Amino acid sequence: MNNLSDDFYYKKAKYVGYRSRASFKLLELNDKFRFFTKGQFVVDLGAAPGGWAQIAAKKIGKEGKVLAIDKAYMEPFKENNVIVLHQDIFNKQLGTMINKTYGSVDGLISDCAPNISGQYGRDHSIQTMLAERALELAQEVLKDAGYFVCKLFQGSETQELIRETKQIFGLVKLFKPKASRKKSSEIYLYGYNYQSKE
Ligand SMILES: C[S@@+](CC[C@H](N)C(=O)[O-])C[C@H]1O[C@@H](n2cnc3c(N)ncnc32)[C@H](O)[C@@H]1O
Repeated sequence: MNNLSDDFYYKKAKYVGYRSRASFKLLELNDKFRFFTKGQFVVDLGAAPGGWAQIAAKKIGKEGKVLAIDKAYMEPFKENNVIVLHQDIFNKQLGTMINKTYGSVDGLISDCAPNISGQYGRDHSIQTMLAERALELAQEVLKDAGYFVCKLFQGSETQELIRETKQIFGLVKLFKPKASRKKSSEIYLYGYNYQSKE
């Protein structure tokens, strides 16, 4: 069992003022794939407590905006370019609401995860449902050539999800950041160059 107080990234996050150690994972993902640019509109699913939103907000600058969505409460952000939306991602109206209110999206990033039960099969299945829903939303809201970043738990359903993603994005890669615990089956999928079917 990992003791959080011994966790290097946890301490570092506290020290630099990030809301979670997850910030470092997104920094590594962006160092690897360079998806953030100034002025983008980014949707962040499963955003609480807000570590990813802080990084995205900084990378896209004040001319961009981050829509940080979670079913859990988030403290308001001091960054002016972060909008908090308290929603379950399975809300069927969510994609339409995003498009109507804010327009189309440059990048959809999802760090959504269930409360871990410790039963691997169960956690993997719920995680896959969250990732499938994120992929569905990506198809509703992304601009052509947009990007997708999504947490997965590796397991029996992973290959199918990768196959589906490859049908929609020009390029698909998997990456495990150093800030992700080695023992965890967590891995991130990156899809670039979204091609809408219409
Ligand atoms: C690992 S945490 C995200 C950490 C976040 N990226 C950060 O940097 O602080 C996973 C989040 O997914 C959210 N989540 C899980 N299922 C969800 C759902 N159906 N709708 C919205 N959020 C969900 C949880 O509430 C939790 O806050």
